[in-house]
Amino acid sequence: MQNPATETNEKFGYFDDENYEYVITTPYTPTPWINYLGNDGFYGLISNTAGGYCFYRDPKFRRLTRYRYNNVPVDNGGRYFYLKCDEQYWSATGLPVDTQLDEYSCRHGMGYSRFNASKNGIASEVTSFIPLDTKAEVHSLKLTNNTSETKTVDVFSFIEWCLWNAEDDGANFQRNLSTGEVEVAGSTIFHKTEYRERRNHYSFYSVNREVAGFETDRETFLGPYRGFDRPVAVESGVTKNSLARGWSPIASHHLKVELAPGESQSLVFVLGYCEVEPENKWSGLNVINKAPAEALSSRFDTDEKVAAELKKLNDYWFNLLSKFTVESPDDKFNRAVNIWNQYQNMVTFNLSRSASFYESGIGRGMGFRDSNQDTIGFAHMVPEKVKERILDLSATQKTDGSAYHQYQPLTKKGNANIGGNFNDDPMWMVLSTANYIKETGDFSILDEVVPFDSDLDNTATHFEHLNRAFNHVVNNLGPHGLPLIGRADWNDCLNLNCFSEDPNESYQTTQRGASDIAESVMIAGQFVLYGQEFVDLCKKIGKDELAASCLQHVELMRETVKQHAWDGAWFIRAYNAKGEKIGSNENTEGKIFIESQGFCAMAGIGLDDGKALQAMNSVEEHLSTDFGIMLNQPAYTSYDKYIGEITSYPPGYKENAGIFCHNNPWITISEAMLGRGEKAYEYYSKITPAFLQDVQDLHKTEPYVYSQMIAGADAEHPGEAKNSWLTGTAAWNYYAATQYILGIKPTYEGLSIDPCILPAWDNVKINREFRGARYEITLRNPQGISKGAISLTVDGQEIVGNVIDPIAYSGSHKIVATLSK
Ligand code: BGC
Ligand code: NOJ
Repeated sequence: MQNPATETNEKFGYFDDENYEYVITTPYTPTPWINYLGNDGFYGLISNTAGGYCFYRDPKFRRLTRYRYNNVPVDNGGRYFYLKCDEQYWSATGLPVDTQLDEYSCRHGMGYSRFNASKNGIASEVTSFIPLDTKAEVHSLKLTNNTSETKTVDVFSFIEWCLWNAEDDGANFQRNLSTGEVEVAGSTIFHKTEYRERRNHYSFYSVNREVAGFETDRETFLGPYRGFDRPVAVESGVTKNSLARGWSPIASHHLKVELAPGESQSLVFVLGYCEVEPENKWSGLNVINKAPAEALSSRFDTDEKVAAELKKLNDYWFNLLSKFTVESPDDKFNRAVNIWNQYQNMVTFNLSRSASFYESGIGRGMGFRDSNQDTIGFAHMVPEKVKERILDLSATQKTDGSAYHQYQPLTKKGNANIGGNFNDDPMWMVLSTANYIKETGDFSILDEVVPFDSDLDNTATHFEHLNRAFNHVVNNLGPHGLPLIGRADWNDCLNLNCFSEDPNESYQTTQRGASDIAESVMIAGQFVLYGQEFVDLCKKIGKDELAASCLQHVELMRETVKQHAWDGAWFIRAYNAKGEKIGSNENTEGKIFIESQGFCAMAGIGLDDGKALQAMNSVEEHLSTDFGIMLNQPAYTSYDKYIGEITSYPPGYKENAGIFCHNNPWITISEAMLGRGEKAYEYYSKITPAFLQDVQDLHKTEPYVYSQMIAGADAEHPGEAKNSWLTGTAAWNYYAATQYILGIKPTYEGLSIDPCILPAWDNVKINREFRGARYEITLRNPQGISKGAISLTVDGQEIVGNVIDPIAYSGSHKIVATLSK
């Protein structure tokens, strides 16, 4: 396979932009490079060697298959296909059998992954996906005999069942080694652990042809003391039709496929999940009702049906991704904006921070702050889902305007274990709501009646929820008039009220400080930014009085920041519980932090008097590296219980002077607001994966998605990334690239065009769907500048200003936007 993007380093793979795929050319990537399957409740994580697992809605409570995190070898457990021919066996997905293949590739595409392998003339292609609106993974396996002789290939599928509750599954062995139960009927293996009691759901693994045998007991399949790389069943070619009782139930089909020279045949495997009404659970004594499984698997029992479903999925994605496309002079920028960033945004929408290669799926629910922020990455693609998500979040808000920090996806109720008091949480809902309305024009979201704390007897309009959010800040100010930080603000590791000396307690839930002293400048900037947004919203719906009184609070905060949070060359970060400055030149470590520079500048604080510009210059001087902008400098070198978890990390990692990619776009945006297009682009491209293809060895994580963190200058390996996929980095960079670099910004009045680009970009084409119309925008930059005045023509007619009024247009229109000094 030739790499179309010749400038890239092909060591591990390359981008195939035409097919919206990343093609991985070796099973031995620096870390497992994963993809996500599923769109609507049923999800799978799948690595480039088919490792990973699937679950229904909640990766902790409804996990179908077992996966061993942080195990050896890494990436342990998946949907494996063992192929055996002429006494040699291998894996159709490259691993776990370590046999050298003649050919291997894994194409991660939009909602599917395809694995091609070939050994001794037997070629295989596994296509894995979760069809739309389906609670099942489909794995179609096509085998081709490229030799000149007839060959019989023994095929063994393999998955290992998780006993539903993933946490218990990995811990409570005294019970769960005795509970496992399966049933087998024809070519379908049913997993029914705990179905006899309180579970009204089971899972199954089927194949669309007669099997030669099967195994459901792990020990029988693998053989004692063997790993997934050399199952005794595969080695011997003998299956014993074991029926698991307790221990570790698995599902493995054994099929014999005879292939004439040149012949291809396909098998379709369906790994599905069924819920059954309690009264219909059984079809006989301890015999489960199989009708739902039969109905589900019969939807995919021919190649034609599978191809049709895959086509639907492809169309779904092409349609979603076509709502915003760009053709700039930089292919990497285009690839990021058009394909992978939007795709990652959708995945973070679906998963929040719950399940990835780094998030074990047992800890964290849907985060209030994270999920609100995530919506700015996909409001243009799935606005109706954004509305639903915002209202779900709103329903976990408490009456005082604070919020549960997380909610559980199955119940949509606030997670009492984590609780609230992360004082940045409330205002993120103003961002998500305003962004949603600007995208859609749908003000009706404000009138929706929403419970507080999921209590149907205590409700108010969503607008009132926003009002409470605003007032939560106003009602929780500290000694300087800055917002109290609570347990933490955006930076979960700046725990100014925790004072923990006990390694057994969580920084996230422990609080010792009186919490009426420590203040956050990040929340102050956030309040000015989204407080102003709330004021605008009030005005839009005719609540002028409220707007005026809110504006006073916002203006006061702006002044308070200037008075108490300006350190001479940058904004301080916080006041701790003793009232001392954090993030100040007075400190010896942690003198400067990124968050307050980004949030104060984005809020426009100091735009008028040079403070914002100076703060950006300080960021460049103290925090910028080749790999992105560090969170703070100098790094903390020892633990300080008054500062919290941030000082628990070794210098250069995570929140302690790592390049925490989520906040880098705040600087990109600030630079764009200041009109410094080259700086904005530089910061954007330093952390955007499409630009990092050439440093994959160092970067380690997937070159097609953002990672949460890249090690900073103080680390052992600066530039090494971790925590790929589920990060607010995705939404924020997309927002920065589209609304601030390209400057295509939805506003209440319409689509505004106000770019801040590289001076060298003389011509950029953008396609944007907006409120029912489609705009083909040509951005011209004849004077080679970054930012300037915009003159607009719509279908050849000049219009006044730089905003396209959606009321005037439907259908398709050609816009020419010309930038000039
Ligand atoms: C991580 C943070 C995360 C927090 C909450 C900390 O250990 O460093 O990035 O937000 O846990 O789960
Ligand atoms: C990751 C968390 O998901 C997010 O909520 C937080 O803002 C960042 N870490 C920074 O601590």
